[in-house]
Amino acid sequence: MQAEVHSLRRLHHDYFLQRFTSPPLVFQPGQFVMVKPSGSLDPFLPRAYSILRVQHHMRGSRGKRGNVVEILYRVLGKGTTALSHLKPGDRVDLLGPLGNGYRVPPNLSTALLVAGGIGVPPVVALVEKLANVKHGNGRRRSAVRGRHKLVAFVGGKAASDVLCLSDFRKAGATLHVATEDGSLGHQGLVTELLETYLRSSVDGLRSAIYACGPHPMLHAVARVAERFGIPCQVSLEADMACGFGACMGCVIPVQSSRQPMNHGPSNMNQRIYKLCCKDGPAFDAREIAW
Ligand SMILES: Cc1cc2nc3c(=O)[nH]c(=O)nc-3n(C[C@H](O)[C@H](O)[C@H](O)COP(=O)(O)OP(=O)(O)OC[C@H]3O[C@@H](n4cnc5c(N)ncnc54)[C@H](O)[C@@H]3O)c2cc1C
Ligand code: FES
Repeated sequence: MQAEVHSLRRLHHDYFLQRFTSPPLVFQPGQFVMVKPSGSLDPFLPRAYSILRVQHHMRGSRGKRGNVVEILYRVLGKGTTALSHLKPGDRVDLLGPLGNGYRVPPNLSTALLVAGGIGVPPVVALVEKLANVKHGNGRRRSAVRGRHKLVAFVGGKAASDVLCLSDFRKAGATLHVATEDGSLGHQGLVTELLETYLRSSVDGLRSAIYACGPHPMLHAVARVAERFGIPCQVSLEADMACGFGACMGCVIPVQSSRQPMNHGPSNMNQRIYKLCCKDGPAFDAREIAW
Protein backbone atom coordinates (compact mmCIF):
# COMPACT_ATOMS: atom_id res chain seq x y z
CA MET A 1 0.00 0.00 0.00
CA GLN A 2 1.04 3.59 -0.39
CA ALA A 3 1.70 5.66 2.69
CA GLU A 4 3.31 9.02 3.16
CA VAL A 5 5.97 10.41 5.42
CA HIS A 6 4.36 12.17 8.37
CA SER A 7 7.60 13.25 10.06
CA LEU A 8 11.27 12.38 10.39
CA ARG A 9 13.38 13.05 13.47
CA ARG A 10 17.08 12.46 13.87
CA LEU A 11 17.49 11.10 17.41
CA HIS A 12 21.27 11.28 17.43
CA HIS A 13 24.16 10.17 15.24
CA ASP A 14 22.72 7.83 12.60
CA TYR A 15 19.46 6.98 14.38
CA PHE A 16 16.17 8.20 12.94
CA LEU A 17 12.56 8.00 14.12
CA GLN A 18 10.26 8.09 11.11
CA ARG A 19 6.49 8.23 11.03
CA PHE A 20 4.21 7.33 8.15
CA THR A 21 0.51 8.01 7.78
CA SER A 22 -1.23 4.76 6.91
CA PRO A 23 -4.62 3.12 6.69
CA PRO A 24 -5.84 1.48 9.93
CA LEU A 25 -3.23 -0.96 11.12
CA VAL A 26 -3.32 -3.30 14.11
CA PHE A 27 -0.06 -5.02 14.99
CA GLN A 28 1.52 -7.38 17.48
CA PRO A 29 4.90 -6.38 18.98
CA GLY A 30 7.60 -8.05 16.89
CA GLN A 31 5.74 -7.68 13.61
CA PHE A 32 7.35 -5.58 10.90
CA VAL A 33 6.69 -3.53 7.78
CA MET A 34 8.54 -3.55 4.44
CA VAL A 35 9.24 0.03 3.34
CA LYS A 36 10.91 1.83 0.46
CA PRO A 37 10.43 5.19 -1.24
CA SER A 38 7.70 4.90 -3.91
CA GLY A 39 9.04 4.58 -7.43
CA SER A 40 12.60 4.01 -6.27
CA LEU A 41 14.76 1.69 -8.37
CA ASP A 42 17.78 2.06 -6.09
CA PRO A 43 17.17 0.44 -3.72
CA PHE A 44 14.85 -1.73 -5.79
CA LEU A 45 13.81 -3.89 -2.84
CA PRO A 46 12.10 -2.65 0.31
CA ARG A 47 13.74 -3.18 3.72
CA ALA A 48 12.16 -4.67 6.83
CA TYR A 49 11.60 -2.48 9.90
CA SER A 50 10.06 -3.53 13.18
CA ILE A 51 6.98 -1.53 14.08
CA LEU A 52 7.82 0.64 17.08
CA ARG A 53 4.26 1.85 17.65
CA VAL A 54 1.09 2.90 15.89
CA GLN A 55 -0.61 6.12 16.91
CA HIS A 56 -4.27 6.60 16.10
CA HIS A 57 -6.16 9.69 14.94
CA MET A 58 -3.06 11.77 14.17
CA ARG A 59 -3.26 14.67 11.73
CA GLY A 60 -1.33 14.01 8.51
CA SER A 61 0.58 16.53 6.40
CA ARG A 62 -2.67 17.28 4.50
CA GLY A 63 -4.62 17.86 7.70
CA LYS A 64 -6.56 14.57 7.55
CA ARG A 65 -6.68 12.38 10.64
CA GLY A 66 -5.43 8.81 10.38
CA ASN A 67 -3.05 6.24 11.75
CA VAL A 68 0.64 6.87 12.06
CA VAL A 69 3.15 4.01 12.00
CA GLU A 70 6.50 4.66 13.70
CA ILE A 71 9.79 2.99 12.89
CA LEU A 72 13.25 3.54 14.30
CA TYR A 73 16.33 2.84 12.24
CA ARG A 74 20.03 3.27 12.02
CA VAL A 75 21.36 4.51 8.67
CA LEU A 76 23.58 1.75 7.31
CA GLY A 77 23.26 1.45 3.55
CA LYS A 78 21.03 2.20 0.58
CA GLY A 79 17.60 1.50 2.05
CA THR A 80 17.99 3.46 5.25
CA THR A 81 19.86 6.33 3.53
CA ALA A 82 17.01 6.69 1.04
CA LEU A 83 14.40 6.81 3.84
CA SER A 84 16.40 9.35 5.82
CA HIS A 85 16.35 11.75 2.82
CA LEU A 86 12.55 11.80 2.55
CA LYS A 87 10.44 14.80 3.56
CA PRO A 88 6.93 15.00 5.05
CA GLY A 89 4.39 14.24 2.34
CA ASP A 90 6.78 12.06 0.30
CA ARG A 91 5.27 8.73 -0.68
CA VAL A 92 6.52 5.31 0.36
CA ASP A 93 5.46 1.75 -0.41
CA LEU A 94 4.63 0.23 2.96
CA LEU A 95 3.57 -3.38 3.38
CA GLY A 96 2.49 -4.84 6.68
CA PRO A 97 2.09 -5.73 9.42
CA LEU A 98 4.00 -8.88 8.50
CA GLY A 99 5.30 -11.93 10.33
CA ASN A 100 4.65 -13.32 13.76
CA GLY A 101 5.35 -11.21 16.80
CA TYR A 102 6.14 -12.22 20.38
CA ARG A 103 3.64 -14.53 22.02
CA VAL A 104 2.62 -13.69 25.59
CA PRO A 105 1.12 -16.51 27.66
CA PRO A 106 -1.96 -15.50 29.67
CA ASN A 107 -0.32 -16.43 32.98
CA LEU A 108 2.90 -14.41 32.46
CA SER A 109 3.89 -12.52 35.59
CA THR A 110 7.37 -11.13 34.82
CA ALA A 111 8.58 -10.06 31.38
CA LEU A 112 12.36 -9.82 31.08
CA LEU A 113 12.96 -7.59 28.06
CA VAL A 114 16.40 -7.62 26.47
CA ALA A 115 17.32 -5.13 23.72
CA GLY A 116 20.65 -4.55 22.01
CA GLY A 117 21.35 -1.49 19.82
CA ILE A 118 18.89 -1.06 16.98
CA GLY A 119 17.07 -4.21 18.13
CA VAL A 120 15.13 -2.03 20.54
CA PRO A 121 11.91 -1.20 18.56
CA PRO A 122 10.00 -4.50 18.95
CA VAL A 123 11.01 -4.67 22.62
CA VAL A 124 9.64 -1.16 23.24
CA ALA A 125 6.47 -2.16 21.39
CA LEU A 126 6.10 -5.13 23.72
CA VAL A 127 6.81 -3.22 26.95
CA GLU A 128 4.22 -0.60 25.93
CA LYS A 129 1.66 -3.29 25.16
CA LEU A 130 2.26 -5.10 28.46
CA ALA A 131 2.08 -1.80 30.36
CA ASN A 132 -1.05 -0.83 28.47
CA VAL A 133 0.38 2.47 27.20
CA LYS A 134 -2.17 4.12 24.91
CA HIS A 135 -1.24 6.29 21.94
CA GLY A 136 -3.43 8.69 20.06
CA ASN A 137 -4.06 12.31 19.07
CA GLY A 138 -0.31 12.80 19.09
CA ARG A 139 -0.19 12.17 22.83
CA ARG A 140 0.90 9.20 24.82
CA ARG A 141 -1.25 8.43 27.81
CA SER A 142 0.90 7.24 30.66
CA ALA A 143 0.98 3.57 31.45
CA VAL A 144 -2.12 2.18 33.03
CA ARG A 145 -0.22 -0.18 35.31
CA GLY A 146 -0.63 -3.61 33.75
CA ARG A 147 -0.61 -7.00 35.38
CA HIS A 148 3.03 -7.65 34.62
CA LYS A 149 6.30 -6.96 36.32
CA LEU A 150 8.54 -5.46 33.61
CA VAL A 151 12.33 -5.65 33.82
CA ALA A 152 14.32 -4.26 30.89
CA PHE A 153 17.95 -4.86 29.99
CA VAL A 154 19.14 -2.41 27.33
CA GLY A 155 22.62 -2.42 25.85
CA GLY A 156 24.79 -1.04 23.09
CA LYS A 157 28.40 -0.51 22.14
CA ALA A 158 28.38 3.06 23.56
CA ALA A 159 25.90 5.43 25.21
CA SER A 160 24.87 6.76 21.78
CA ASP A 161 23.70 3.25 20.79
CA VAL A 162 21.41 2.88 23.81
CA LEU A 163 17.97 3.96 22.72
CA CYS A 164 14.46 4.50 24.07
CA LEU A 165 15.33 4.47 27.79
CA SER A 166 12.58 7.02 28.49
CA ASP A 167 10.03 4.75 26.78
CA PHE A 168 10.94 1.88 29.10
CA ARG A 169 10.74 4.20 32.12
CA LYS A 170 7.35 5.60 31.06
CA ALA A 171 6.05 2.06 30.74
CA GLY A 172 7.08 1.45 34.36
CA ALA A 173 9.89 -0.99 33.61
CA THR A 174 12.85 -1.41 35.94
CA LEU A 175 15.90 -0.57 33.83
CA HIS A 176 19.33 -2.19 33.64
CA VAL A 177 21.71 -0.56 31.15
CA ALA A 178 25.06 -1.80 29.82
CA THR A 179 27.54 -0.43 27.29
CA GLU A 180 30.63 -2.18 26.00
CA ASP A 181 32.79 0.94 26.45
CA GLY A 182 31.34 1.79 29.86
CA SER A 183 30.04 5.21 28.73
CA LEU A 184 26.60 4.43 30.25
CA GLY A 185 25.60 1.97 32.94
CA HIS A 186 27.44 -1.27 33.52
CA GLN A 187 30.61 -1.72 31.45
CA GLY A 188 30.15 -4.99 29.61
CA LEU A 189 27.44 -6.98 27.92
CA VAL A 190 23.75 -6.70 28.58
CA THR A 191 23.59 -10.47 29.04
CA GLU A 192 25.86 -10.15 32.09
CA LEU A 193 23.19 -7.95 33.71
CA LEU A 194 20.49 -10.44 32.79
CA GLU A 195 22.47 -13.27 34.35
CA THR A 196 23.17 -11.30 37.55
CA TYR A 197 19.47 -10.47 37.82
CA LEU A 198 18.40 -14.06 37.34
CA ARG A 199 20.85 -15.32 39.97
CA SER A 200 19.18 -13.17 42.62
CA SER A 201 15.65 -13.29 41.26
CA VAL A 202 12.79 -15.10 42.92
CA ASP A 203 10.32 -14.50 40.10
CA GLY A 204 10.14 -18.19 39.38
CA LEU A 205 8.17 -20.09 36.85
CA ARG A 206 5.94 -17.46 35.32
CA SER A 207 8.76 -15.35 33.81
CA ALA A 208 9.69 -15.17 30.15
CA ILE A 209 12.47 -13.49 28.22
CA TYR A 210 11.80 -11.44 25.07
CA ALA A 211 14.86 -10.30 23.14
CA CYS A 212 15.94 -8.51 19.98
CA GLY A 213 19.41 -7.39 18.96
CA PRO A 214 22.54 -8.61 17.20
CA HIS A 215 22.69 -12.35 16.53
CA PRO A 216 25.57 -13.06 18.98
CA MET A 217 23.63 -11.27 21.74
CA LEU A 218 20.52 -13.31 21.00
CA HIS A 219 22.53 -16.52 21.11
CA ALA A 220 23.98 -15.50 24.47
CA VAL A 221 20.48 -14.65 25.78
CA ALA A 222 19.25 -18.05 24.59
CA ARG A 223 22.07 -19.79 26.50
CA VAL A 224 21.29 -17.85 29.69
CA ALA A 225 17.58 -18.67 29.32
CA GLU A 226 18.34 -22.35 28.91
CA ARG A 227 20.67 -22.38 31.93
CA PHE A 228 17.98 -20.80 34.12
CA GLY A 229 15.13 -22.78 32.56
CA ILE A 230 13.19 -19.70 31.46
CA PRO A 231 11.13 -19.59 28.23
CA CYS A 232 12.74 -17.22 25.74
CA GLN A 233 11.64 -15.70 22.45
CA VAL A 234 14.09 -13.98 20.14
CA SER A 235 13.28 -11.72 17.21
CA LEU A 236 15.71 -12.55 14.40
CA GLU A 237 16.89 -10.70 11.31
CA ALA A 238 17.60 -12.08 7.86
CA ASP A 239 17.98 -10.45 4.47
CA MET A 240 14.43 -10.11 3.14
CA ALA A 241 13.29 -9.43 -0.40
CA CYS A 242 9.51 -9.91 -0.18
CA GLY A 243 8.63 -10.15 3.53
CA PHE A 244 5.75 -12.62 3.11
CA GLY A 245 7.12 -16.03 2.15
CA ALA A 246 7.40 -15.80 -1.64
CA CYS A 247 11.13 -15.45 -2.36
CA MET A 248 12.54 -18.04 0.09
CA GLY A 249 15.42 -15.65 0.73
CA CYS A 250 15.24 -15.36 4.51
CA VAL A 251 15.85 -18.90 5.74
CA ILE A 252 16.78 -19.57 9.36
CA PRO A 253 18.25 -22.95 10.35
CA VAL A 254 16.16 -24.58 13.07
CA GLN A 255 16.58 -27.67 15.21
CA SER A 256 15.24 -30.83 13.70
CA SER A 257 12.56 -32.30 15.93
CA ARG A 258 12.70 -35.53 13.95
CA GLN A 259 14.67 -38.46 15.23
CA PRO A 260 17.42 -39.49 12.76
CA MET A 261 16.06 -42.39 10.74
CA ASN A 262 18.04 -45.40 9.68
CA HIS A 263 18.41 -44.22 6.09
CA GLY A 264 22.14 -43.58 5.88
CA PRO A 265 24.38 -40.66 6.83
CA SER A 266 22.77 -37.96 4.63
CA ASN A 267 19.67 -37.91 6.85
CA MET A 268 21.80 -37.49 9.96
CA ASN A 269 23.06 -34.13 8.67
CA GLN A 270 19.75 -32.89 7.36
CA ARG A 271 19.20 -29.22 8.09
CA ILE A 272 15.72 -27.87 8.64
CA TYR A 273 14.94 -24.29 7.72
CA LYS A 274 12.15 -21.86 8.50
CA LEU A 275 11.37 -18.52 6.93
CA CYS A 276 12.23 -15.55 9.11
CA CYS A 277 9.48 -13.42 7.53
CA LYS A 278 6.64 -15.93 7.70
CA ASP A 279 7.47 -18.25 10.61
CA GLY A 280 9.15 -15.46 12.61
CA PRO A 281 10.73 -13.05 13.10
CA ALA A 282 9.93 -13.96 16.73
CA PHE A 283 10.95 -17.55 17.44
CA ASP A 284 11.19 -19.72 20.52
CA ALA A 285 14.94 -19.59 21.22
CA ARG A 286 15.10 -23.39 21.63
CA GLU A 287 13.90 -23.79 18.06
CA ILE A 288 16.94 -22.09 16.50
CA ALA A 289 19.98 -24.08 15.34
CA TRP A 290 22.42 -21.49 16.70
C1 LIG B 1 12.30 -8.48 10.75
C2 LIG B 1 13.33 -7.36 10.61
C3 LIG B 1 13.16 -6.21 11.34
C4 LIG B 1 14.10 -5.18 11.21
N1 LIG B 1 13.90 -4.05 11.95
C5 LIG B 1 14.78 -3.04 11.84
C6 LIG B 1 14.57 -1.84 12.59
O1 LIG B 1 13.59 -1.70 13.33
N2 LIG B 1 15.49 -0.84 12.45
C7 LIG B 1 16.59 -0.97 11.62
O2 LIG B 1 17.41 -0.04 11.56
N3 LIG B 1 16.79 -2.09 10.91
C8 LIG B 1 15.92 -3.11 10.98
N4 LIG B 1 16.11 -4.23 10.24
C9 LIG B 1 17.24 -4.26 9.29
C10 LIG B 1 16.83 -3.55 8.01
O3 LIG B 1 15.86 -4.32 7.32
C11 LIG B 1 17.98 -3.32 7.05
O4 LIG B 1 18.61 -4.54 6.73
C12 LIG B 1 19.04 -2.43 7.60
O5 LIG B 1 18.46 -1.25 8.06
C13 LIG B 1 20.07 -2.06 6.52
O6 LIG B 1 19.42 -1.67 5.32
P1 LIG B 1 20.16 -0.73 4.28
O7 LIG B 1 19.42 -0.84 3.00
O8 LIG B 1 20.36 0.62 4.85
O9 LIG B 1 21.61 -1.38 4.14
P2 LIG B 1 22.13 -2.28 2.93
O10 LIG B 1 22.43 -1.42 1.77
O11 LIG B 1 21.19 -3.41 2.72
O12 LIG B 1 23.48 -2.80 3.57
C14 LIG B 1 24.56 -1.89 3.83
C15 LIG B 1 25.69 -2.60 4.55
O13 LIG B 1 25.30 -2.81 5.88
C16 LIG B 1 25.31 -4.19 6.14
N5 LIG B 1 24.13 -4.46 6.89
C17 LIG B 1 22.89 -4.59 6.39
N6 LIG B 1 22.02 -4.83 7.41
C18 LIG B 1 22.75 -4.83 8.55
C19 LIG B 1 22.44 -5.00 9.90
N7 LIG B 1 21.17 -5.23 10.30
N8 LIG B 1 23.44 -4.92 10.82
C20 LIG B 1 24.70 -4.71 10.44
N9 LIG B 1 25.07 -4.54 9.15
C21 LIG B 1 24.11 -4.60 8.22
C22 LIG B 1 25.31 -4.92 4.82
O14 LIG B 1 25.95 -6.16 4.93
C23 LIG B 1 26.05 -3.94 3.96
O15 LIG B 1 27.44 -4.13 4.11
C24 LIG B 1 15.22 -5.30 10.34
C25 LIG B 1 15.37 -6.47 9.62
C26 LIG B 1 14.46 -7.50 9.76
C27 LIG B 1 14.63 -8.75 8.96
S1 FES C 1 11.59 -12.45 2.64
FE1 FES C 1 10.81 -13.55 0.95
S2 FES C 1 10.44 -15.50 1.82
FE2 FES C 1 11.04 -14.32 3.53
